[in-house]
Amino acid sequence: MRYLVTGGAGFIGSNFIRYIFNKYGADAQVVNLDKLTYAGIRENLAEYEGSKNYRFVHGDIATPEDVAEAYKGVDGSGVDVVVNFAAETHVDRSLMEAGTFIQTDVHGVLVLLEEARKNAPNLRRFIQISTDEVYGSIDQGSFTESDPLNPRNPYSASKAGGDRMAYAYAQTYGMPVVVTRASNNFGPYQYPEKLIPLFVTNAIDDQPLPLYGDGKNIRDWLFVDDHCAAIDFLIENGSNSETYNIGGGNERENREITQKILQIVGKPDSLIKRVSDRQGHDRRYSIDTAKLNNLGFRWTTDFDDALERTVRWYVANEPWWRAIKERSAEYKAFYAKQYANR
Ligand code: NAD
Ligand code: TYD
Repeated sequence: MRYLVTGGAGFIGSNFIRYIFNKYGADAQVVNLDKLTYAGIRENLAEYEGSKNYRFVHGDIATPEDVAEAYKGVDGSGVDVVVNFAAETHVDRSLMEAGTFIQTDVHGVLVLLEEARKNAPNLRRFIQISTDEVYGSIDQGSFTESDPLNPRNPYSASKAGGDRMAYAYAQTYGMPVVVTRASNNFGPYQYPEKLIPLFVTNAIDDQPLPLYGDGKNIRDWLFVDDHCAAIDFLIENGSNSETYNIGGGNERENREITQKILQIVGKPDSLIKRVSDRQGHDRRYSIDTAKLNNLGFRWTTDFDDALERTVRWYVANEPWWRAIKERSAEYKAFYAKQYANR
């Protein structure tokens, strides 16, 4: 299979490309189109650089010429499948500056779809990676795929725009689109601005763990390999125009995750620092995964085991996150701004 993966230098995209090469070996060809924003780290996939089955294209999904170049594939023969991970992804950043979110997460999706019509008329599958955050917050029960969207922050609103744009291209032009809405991922190579990698790396350094509000917000945690397996499954088994929730089945309050991290790293609870809440902070995300399960997909990863392995990965790979936290001026500027008024 010939894949175009966008945003492959980021967290889930790099795990997905590794998953595909581990599973399919030389039968897979992957073009990785990535703008290398602050969150894109080309070295995440250093082991594939120079391989005849892998090609990195430095470009923007919102720029037609970059996208057309990527649709040529690894060897000029084209691509069969697009998996669009490329996005601005951090809610806190969307509260500071929402414009880039609209540009990439909405307009970028439009350009990818439009260029697919021109450059890849025989595409077998276009996977639009959306998020459970498009449904908004739910106090009780779980959202199914047919529930109305109610995004409540600029990140989730922009993701909802891309989600429905992909659906519109399926309806209007018959494009083989599948939309996936996954819950909060965790695992290796996650940028240390998101809850788990931020708290693990702060704990290692005896720095405070800034827990927003009362710490009782609930997220449903999905191990990144399980997410990759579900996407791979849906490339083959999903139906055109359909949307599938991909949840981890591991709903936890943030304060519980925080305590678990401290236990694994062996640091005291006194490192927890209650800070003022995120504006518009969604209370609980919960999605029903029956539609995916009914197709035959199951995952068996144990949450506590996966969390422990993830924490150990950050302990063992200090140079990876120290390069970001200690040497990135952009990272330091973001945190200076983030805590200026809190
Ligand atoms: P990330 O922030 O780690 O990586 C995003 C990648 O996209 C980076 O490599 C970045 O350089 C690239 N990128 C950004 N703008 C681009 C552009 N205009 N053109 C090309 N590349 C661009 O993100 P992630 O956590 O790996 O998330 C990947 C996708 O999964 C996103 O679409 C996100 O909305 C979705 N998602 C994430 C989660 C999660 O918990 N992380 C959960 C559900 C869905
Ligand atoms: P995050 O990893 O930013 O993912 P999302 O907002 O997309 O769910 O945050 C996960 C949860 O952790 C969310 O409820 C906000 C909370 N949180 C904190 O309490 N402190 C932090 O420093 C961060 C980054 C998040």
